[in-house]
Amino acid sequence: DWTMKSYIVEEVKRIHKQVGKSKVLCALSGGVDSSVAAVMLYKAIGKQLICVYVDHGLQKLGETERVRKVFGRMFGKNLIIVSAKKIFLSKLKGITDPEQKRKIIGHTFIEVFDGEVKKLKGINFLLQGTIYSDVIESVSIKGAKSPIKSHHNVGGLPEKMKMKLVEPLRFLFKDEVRVLGKELGVPSEIIDRQPFPGPGLAIRTLGEITKEKLNILKEADNIVTEEIIKAGLYEKIWQSFAIILPVKTVGVMGDARTYEYVIAIRAVNSEDAMTADWVKLPYELLSKISSRIINEVKGTNRVVYDISDKPPATIEWE
Ligand code: XMP
Repeated sequence: DWTMKSYIVEEVKRIHKQVGKSKVLCALSGGVDSSVAAVMLYKAIGKQLICVYVDHGLQKLGETERVRKVFGRMFGKNLIIVSAKKIFLSKLKGITDPEQKRKIIGHTFIEVFDGEVKKLKGINFLLQGTIYSDVIESVSIKGAKSPIKSHHNVGGLPEKMKMKLVEPLRFLFKDEVRVLGKELGVPSEIIDRQPFPGPGLAIRTLGEITKEKLNILKEADNIVTEEIIKAGLYEKIWQSFAIILPVKTVGVMGDARTYEYVIAIRAVNSEDAMTADWVKLPYELLSKISSRIINEVKGTNRVVYDISDKPPATIEWE
């Protein structure tokens, strides 16, 4: 793509001019935006870029290994993976309110990230994968009296850390970010992902977040993704995922009664996440997903399908 090639050339020049010989810090999440932003910076300043990935345990199954595989090769020692599962779980213990979950995750993220950054020296810049729609959205959210959900996108970081921002995606739309990523050689398993919320599986683990529920959800969600990919639908759907409900229901296995968790499946199509339609997944696919989850994921005995549009429902359940 010619326009992207020249965009890269211009952006490399601009980044050089902005940061000079300074180091730039990146909070890498594995999502499309932070990943493309990181690789863009790497292209411009190589080893001056330091990426910190916080493993909070709320990511999809295998996410940390995926990040290590994809970015470890490129960034080498400059990819720092922080194990923080325990602290996140303990701070979230007993918390059921969705907004409180978001706040705790936001604060804990900053705390863990900041703790890591204190060990590093000479960093004056922070990379942010802000894209054009984030810029617009944050303006409109700030203008609103009460945001419907407080979106956590490492939002509080820059003020707290007294660093200047580097924002190589600020003027790009999501589809342009993907084109840029492809041009930079970011693999499809990162570029072509469905959106994933900052607070991750915490807002898909309804009620209290426990290690048990999280693990069940990860397995169930992974089955949903596998089957949606197998059906050739992954890239045609805006978001498809599993939710674990905070109730157990009665089932039967052999001649014994079971009492296990319920998994809900959600699949929606959308242009911009402001409105969304539930996807009419084929019955055979739903049936496959259901039987796989109930057979393969210990601790579940029932699967339900969410058939609500947004509005009035939201895409996430919390
Ligand atoms: P809702 O549930 O509000 O979601 O219809 C709209 C889109 O935003 C994502 N989402 C979030 N993303 N932090 C994020 O970074 C959040 O707290 C959050 N809540 C929802 C959701 O996945 C959907 O794409």
